[in-house]
Amino acid sequence: MKSSKSIISNEKKYIAKAQKLPYYPVAFKKGKGALLYDYEGREYIDFLSSASSANIGHGNKEIAQVVKKQMESLVQYVVAYFYSSLPVKLAEKLVSIAPGDKDKKVMFSTTGSASIDGAIKLAKAYTKRSKIISFHGSYHGSTYGALSISAINTNMRRNIGPNLPEVYHFSYPNCLRCKYGKDKNSCEMECLKEIEYAFDNYLPPDDVAAVFIEPIAGDSGLIVPPKKYIKALYNLCKKYGILLVSDEIQQGLGRTGKWFAIEHFDIEPDLIVMGKSIGAGLPLGVVIGKTDILNSLDAPAHVFSMSGNSTVCAASLKMLEIFERENLNERSEKMGKYIKNKLIKLKDKYEIIGEVRGLGMSIGVDIVTDRISMDKNHEAAAKICYRSIEKGLVLVFIGKSVLRIQPPLVITKEEVDKGINIIEESINEYLKGEIGDEVFDFAKGW
Ligand SMILES: Cc1ncc(COP(=O)(O)O)c(C=O)c1O
Repeated sequence: MKSSKSIISNEKKYIAKAQKLPYYPVAFKKGKGALLYDYEGREYIDFLSSASSANIGHGNKEIAQVVKKQMESLVQYVVAYFYSSLPVKLAEKLVSIAPGDKDKKVMFSTTGSASIDGAIKLAKAYTKRSKIISFHGSYHGSTYGALSISAINTNMRRNIGPNLPEVYHFSYPNCLRCKYGKDKNSCEMECLKEIEYAFDNYLPPDDVAAVFIEPIAGDSGLIVPPKKYIKALYNLCKKYGILLVSDEIQQGLGRTGKWFAIEHFDIEPDLIVMGKSIGAGLPLGVVIGKTDILNSLDAPAHVFSMSGNSTVCAASLKMLEIFERENLNERSEKMGKYIKNKLIKLKDKYEIIGEVRGLGMSIGVDIVTDRISMDKNHEAAAKICYRSIEKGLVLVFIGKSVLRIQPPLVITKEEVDKGINIIEESINEYLKGEIGDEVFDFAKGW
């Protein structure tokens, strides 16, 4: 019989370590809704949704049936050469839910990262400009283009240079730890001024093709930017004919209580990139954007044998049907408020919680050494997560010290209550010094 232990040791032997950011030694065998089960039969509540890629939950029978039916009929047939109905239907559906103007098209690939590369290519081809702007702390994926515009971990670049040239990174608006020492009242959007300074001094704005931004900075700690920043960034882009690209791979599809997180900021981006949950568990990446931008590349500029194949499109369409039937955007908003309120009550009790932030069911709990310095408390976050998983709650930290609360949107109140109780127990055990340093033999995280 397989055990988590034997799977882990075989993985170490056969799978490249470049693909592992380990948090806890467990292998999952099955899942249902927001619950997971390991090879030893233990049950876990899922607060991670497989890194926000299982928004409608695990083990959905309707998805399984539609995939089986499609596979028995025709798994896929190269859409680059011939025609299939399902990718067209899915593209039409995606255009219908995209914000703003409906004169839009869709470009498929098989991952979020490859779609980020697609958006880079589109932006350059459309504007005939070469430079790209993105942000410190951003994660946009692992293909060469996507890693080149990311700025979160040097292992993504070490020994593999040169990366994509002419990428410029600026500060993401992080109000909790403002690098200019400003607060809400004194803020003059100094971080936006960094870009304006560059435009005045060394980065000609009319050479910039696009700004890539995560509408909530995900992997660097679920940082929510102020609305005024995003609006000002949008206006700056418009002023210079620069495209604004919203990376919705993690924050899209109901995660924040809306189809797209950028909708919270009342702007319409030029391009939207999706991945993760959009494939309902199968590999799918999507760029959605204005028709004239999408028309700026000619084939075979972004052709993948498997992208937009019938099976993944069938799964995605069924997932969107379930999503609408179950009102998952509304559910995410309401349940997100419920979760956030419970976490704020924990913050009132425990000094090590510096901030609870987020939109919908994309919530970060920032663990700090103290509320004066607001220094990141990596040790506490890692230990709290480790102990929580031991107790049956799948919980990871990002940005060194932020508990990542992104459960499947179908999670029940009882499961939420149980999960948050586990977090509280783990905080107490941490504060009593009951979680040893051996945690770090395994828990590395980002
Ligand atoms: C914001 C963001 N962009 C891009 C990606 C890359 O997507 P994928 O892993 O599907 O290539 C991720 C994945 O974690 C992400 O969170």
